Amino acid sequence: MSLLPLQRFTVSFFQRVRRACSHLGKWLVDSPRLNAWFYPPPKVEAPAEKYRQFNEEYFADLHAQERMLSDEPRMAFYHKAINRHIKPGNRVIDLGTGTGILAAFASRQGAAKVYAIDHSSIIEHAQRLAAENGIENVNFEDVHSSKFYLDEPVDVILHEQIGDFLFDEAMVPNVCDLRDRLLKPGGLILPSQFELFCEPMTLHDDRRVPYIWELNDVYGFDFSSMGRSRPKDPEYYRLVSCDLGVVKHFLGRPAPIVKVDLHTITESTLPLKVSFMRKVITTGLLDGLVVYMKAKVDDDLILSSSPIDPGRAPHWGFRVLRLDQRQVEVGDDLEVTLTVKDWSDPETWNWTCGQWGCK
Ligand SMILES: C[S@@+](CC[C@H](N)C(=O)[O-])C[C@H]1O[C@@H](n2cnc3c(N)ncnc32)[C@H](O)[C@@H]1O
Repeated sequence: MSLLPLQRFTVSFFQRVRRACSHLGKWLVDSPRLNAWFYPPPKVEAPAEKYRQFNEEYFADLHAQERMLSDEPRMAFYHKAINRHIKPGNRVIDLGTGTGILAAFASRQGAAKVYAIDHSSIIEHAQRLAAENGIENVNFEDVHSSKFYLDEPVDVILHEQIGDFLFDEAMVPNVCDLRDRLLKPGGLILPSQFELFCEPMTLHDDRRVPYIWELNDVYGFDFSSMGRSRPKDPEYYRLVSCDLGVVKHFLGRPAPIVKVDLHTITESTLPLKVSFMRKVITTGLLDGLVVYMKAKVDDDLILSSSPIDPGRAPHWGFRVLRLDQRQVEVGDDLEVTLTVKDWSDPETWNWTCGQWGCK
């Protein structure tokens, strides 16, 4: 059936238009600049920025704040530290004021002025609580510390930016930034001395959770073939626990693997690889490495999150870096290596533990 001339013209017109569009499309796709303009690459957020957003939301939650306020060893540590070291007339920055409790301690201690800064919405409660409790000389600033400026430097930087992995609340970059910009020469950072521990340990028998492929007799059922399906997700290899009853004992004598003084440290001076030896002093199963911290203000003023310290501050978790289970004997040497890309991001931690028998 032949087409009428008008129909023929219409068909050929649209065929040309389609060809022209397809040439234009090819040209756009082949031109990197136009392509990038039409299809901008998705914005990738830096890990620090992602963490900042998480932190801001996490600490707006009242439960996060009440857990810290009810942690008696933590509160006593800060109360004593402030009463001992903040002098009447001091000007103080309280970095990450939360509910404003440390700023209130400093104010009661006679600080001339406290700049209480927090980037989370909890600061609205802090401001109201201070007014209700008759705290007058505190300026509340709803801002991230990196955007906080003053004309005159302060005498003291007060902070509680301590994560379960010590460095995972960005304590080092946040405090160093304020220290370098806004602390008087010779000024005080409270607290400033920290130790990170990573101890080989054994779990209580009734609290042990072996890898699934280590379960070769669950009422006669064998899971050992699951060793072929070891998960790739690094999260699987870190157990999180705040439960004091989990760790039975350390296998060696604990010693800090990293020591930090915030008066002098810079982020780039933290080592990215730490190797250390532990001589086994108590026989047991090696279940993993337990990560915890200590903060020191004076020799008699120490805050600990050690899982076997009865006076530990309970709201901090401690972490178990899991290892394939093995028996170790007194006198064995354990060589642990921890490599880290970014201390503030435990996702980037890797660990190994070698064993040499004494016999
Ligand atoms: C662990 S809480 C401590 C709260 C309070 N100082 C206390 O001891 O109860 C840390 C607080 O710091 C805030 N924060 C963390 N990083 C911050 C930053 N760089 N600038 C401002 N606030 C920050 C969080 O929103 C959170 O409220």
